[in-house]
Amino acid sequence: MVNPKLLTISGSLRKGSYNRMLLREAVEAFGPAEVSEADLHLPLYDGDLEEAEGVPEKVQHLARQISEADAVVIAAPEYNKGITGVLKNALDWVSRVPGAAFRNKPVVVISASAGRTGGETAQFMTLSCLTQLQARLLPGTAVLIAGAGDAFDEAGRLKDATSRKFLAARMEALRAEVV
Ligand SMILES: Cc1cc2nc3c(=O)[nH]c(=O)nc-3n(C[C@H](O)[C@H](O)[C@H](O)COP(=O)(O)O)c2cc1C
Repeated sequence: MVNPKLLTISGSLRKGSYNRMLLREAVEAFGPAEVSEADLHLPLYDGDLEEAEGVPEKVQHLARQISEADAVVIAAPEYNKGITGVLKNALDWVSRVPGAAFRNKPVVVISASAGRTGGETAQFMTLSCLTQLQARLLPGTAVLIAGAGDAFDEAGRLKDATSRKFLAARMEALRAEVV
């Protein structure tokens, strides 16, 4: 059988991002897949820009990546008890592309953050936006990696076995939706 297409979306642009590390764990837990990574270096949503020039090619590319993916995993960092501007901006842009890329798309949202709640508020806000975009949000125990600075080892691997177990369960459920 052909490997499913898995798209990863990090709400952090940082190279050393803990959410990127978490996504790498998620990809491994998902199993064999054709993996692609979203690039959220997008201009800020501006209705005047959209009217004058249309939706930027980078946004159209992202919408195509989402449409063509069998499944999407989003890592949502938390800034000031909310979704990062980077991720919200991307979701706002994608919502402007005709064709509703997220509609019925199986999606799992996970989070890592420095604080004690592991990005729970940001994750909740992300799920709320994705509901508006009609994504198929898979239920399951939330993956919330608190104290992210200490949660990964030097190789960038998630240390806590329980967290790895929860992540594996979410990714197995995501895989079961598409194969
Ligand atoms: C502007 C800003 C606001 C932040 N607010 C929160 C917060 O509300 N809750 C939290 O747990 N961590 C907060 N943090 C810390 C982030 O969790 C931490 O920087 C984390 O590493 C970001 O994710 P990343 O490693 O994927 O980039 C904040 C960081 C920044 C830069």
